[in-house]
Amino acid sequence: MAKALVVYTTRTGETKSIAELIAEGIRFTGSEATVANVTETKKEADLEGYDAYVFGSATYHGEMMQGMKTMLFLAEKANLEGRAGGSFGAFGWSGEAPGRIFDTMANIFKMDMVGGPMRLKSASLGGGTQMCQDYGKEIGKKLSTS
Ligand SMILES: Cc1cc2nc3c(=O)[nH]c(=O)nc-3n(C[C@H](O)[C@H](O)[C@H](O)COP(=O)(O)O)c2cc1C
Repeated sequence: MAKALVVYTTRTGETKSIAELIAEGIRFTGSEATVANVTETKKEADLEGYDAYVFGSATYHGEMMQGMKTMLFLAEKANLEGRAGGSFGAFGWSGEAPGRIFDTMANIFKMDMVGGPMRLKSASLGGGTQMCQDYGKEIGKKLSTS
């Protein structure tokens, strides 16, 4: 069974909720999905052994959170080339983080990315359940066709 790792960083929990819904969507497609906080991904070995990676951070002061920046430097060493990838995050008004993460995964890690990052405005989290699950399904589809 194909396996996906969903790693998030959050301050008030919204990006964690998105991570869990994306993981549900991945599971709907028949793949396994593990959800982890960036604080649980400290060494290269924590990132090894997955077919897809979905990384997410909320946006604060126009940036991704520090924990995700540190995790991306770790991921750079993990050789994720060709693996399926996506990115996500909760935001208030500008939401830069998911796009920055997505571009890093595409340009530096050279991953096989889905169509674009998934951004969810904080106030609409309740109504965004379907959107998050669908994003997970998009990742899952890459796994079942690769
Ligand atoms: C001090 C502060 C700065 C913020 N800066 C931004 C920002 O630059 N752009 C944006 O889109 N949202 C910004 N937000 C809104 C958060 O991204 C939003 O509340 C998000 O849902 C938080 O997600 P989390 O629960 O995963 O931490 C900011 C919020 C706070 C409290």
